Amino acid sequence: MAAMGYPLDPSPEQMREMGHAALDYAIDFLGRRGEAPASLPPGAAEVARAHREEPPEAGGEFAPLLELVETIARNAPDNAGPGFLAYIPGGGLFASSLADLLSTTIDRYVNLSGEAPVAAQIENNVVRWICDLFAYPPESRGVLTSGGSMANFSAIVAARKDRLPEDFLSGTMYVSEHVHASVTKAAMLAGLPVRHVRTVVGDPSLRMDVEALRRVVAEDRAAGLAPFALVGSAGTTNTGAIDPLDALADLAVAEGMWFHVDAAYGGFFQLTSRGRDRLRGIERADSITLDPHKGMFLPYGTGALVVREGRKLRDAHHVGTSAYLQDLAADADVPSFSEYSAELSRDFRGLRVWFPLKMHGVSAFREALDEKLDLTEHLYEALKADPNLEVPWAPDLTVVPFRLRDGDDAANRALLDAINESGRVFVSSTVLDGRFTIRVCIVSHRTHRDRIDECIDIVRSAAATLR
Ligand SMILES: Cc1ncc(COP(=O)(O)O)c(C=O)c1O
Repeated sequence: MAAMGYPLDPSPEQMREMGHAALDYAIDFLGRRGEAPASLPPGAAEVARAHREEPPEAGGEFAPLLELVETIARNAPDNAGPGFLAYIPGGGLFASSLADLLSTTIDRYVNLSGEAPVAAQIENNVVRWICDLFAYPPESRGVLTSGGSMANFSAIVAARKDRLPEDFLSGTMYVSEHVHASVTKAAMLAGLPVRHVRTVVGDPSLRMDVEALRRVVAEDRAAGLAPFALVGSAGTTNTGAIDPLDALADLAVAEGMWFHVDAAYGGFFQLTSRGRDRLRGIERADSITLDPHKGMFLPYGTGALVVREGRKLRDAHHVGTSAYLQDLAADADVPSFSEYSAELSRDFRGLRVWFPLKMHGVSAFREALDEKLDLTEHLYEALKADPNLEVPWAPDLTVVPFRLRDGDDAANRALLDAINESGRVFVSSTVLDGRFTIRVCIVSHRTHRDRIDECIDIVRSAAATLR
């Protein structure tokens, strides 16, 4: 791009022209989204290989870069589209896209509150709102992270620091067999021997078995180990099952363990009355992970961690003030988030959350999440009524696992492939009770009744053909 004088700063006219083209592309893309294929198109790996290249020495035009964005989008399943019902679907609210454009343009330093007090205040509004959602006390604190994995990591570091001595290798931590891998990874990164992450079996409803947990903790204590943390899942990725959070909280208190809840997927259902009922006990957790890029339909890169006693999060992450930052204003009434997390320079995530909250209001999120619960119940009832299918678990949240009745793993894989070949819906699989199981997960705010009815028809006719 040729510019007037300084090549890295385009002229206002150039910026306007590129900006309008980018915005036109974005709006056009969103308009086409409903009709875009839900599955990975064939040949995407070859297209990717064709894009192996070095950066050019001289600059070029902007228009081909928009074509590149279209190629990127076209060669991946649309994980934020209405037919994406695999893994945990994404969202990508337009209000957040605008927030990202504007926040990266003003480029302020949100992680030190004295450097950008208003930015830090806005981000703190988001954190406070999440704390209030779980009735956390005024001394609670939190941070916005890049996602649930980093939130789980900071939580485990805080738990380790609070409950174990510096020499912590005898510490043991407890998770259910359905826990997300990021929790085990967090323990490993926090320096714990992975063998000290005890996997407790699930009960028939795939929730953590509290009696089995009690036994493992007692055995570990008898062996001289130091149980220090218990992690409950508020919506497992596999089936959406919610662990018995109240009972886990009781046991954690009795055993002096830090109680962390991984609510990356399920946490924002707390906004709905059904969710609040099902998540009962979550408010007793020492810390909670949430993912606004799941339950609030935001673009990827937005997770959250809240900690009941905020100073414990700070104790685990703060190493004192560095001489090169001595000129900064002292901590005001808004925390410096860098003291509560592993990061210093980072993006202004708060604006990405605050814009949609201000533009749409909390009620719009509550309604969208309620709609997801309704759609899930509808899907569950419809699949359960089909004699060709086995639907063994009633959904706690918005995941419906099912199998071909009496089908072996190969038959179920064939069913998965047949469903995804439709291009209209994309679902994924897991292993439950040692058997290949298909799962539908409804999270995107773009998924509505018409697409779920289409999904039901696709699944039923594929199952009828295969049986
Ligand atoms: C229950 C749960 N915890 C943690 C994570 C990890 O979150 P992220 O992908 O945002 O790092 C996920 C991701 O799907 C999840 O479903």
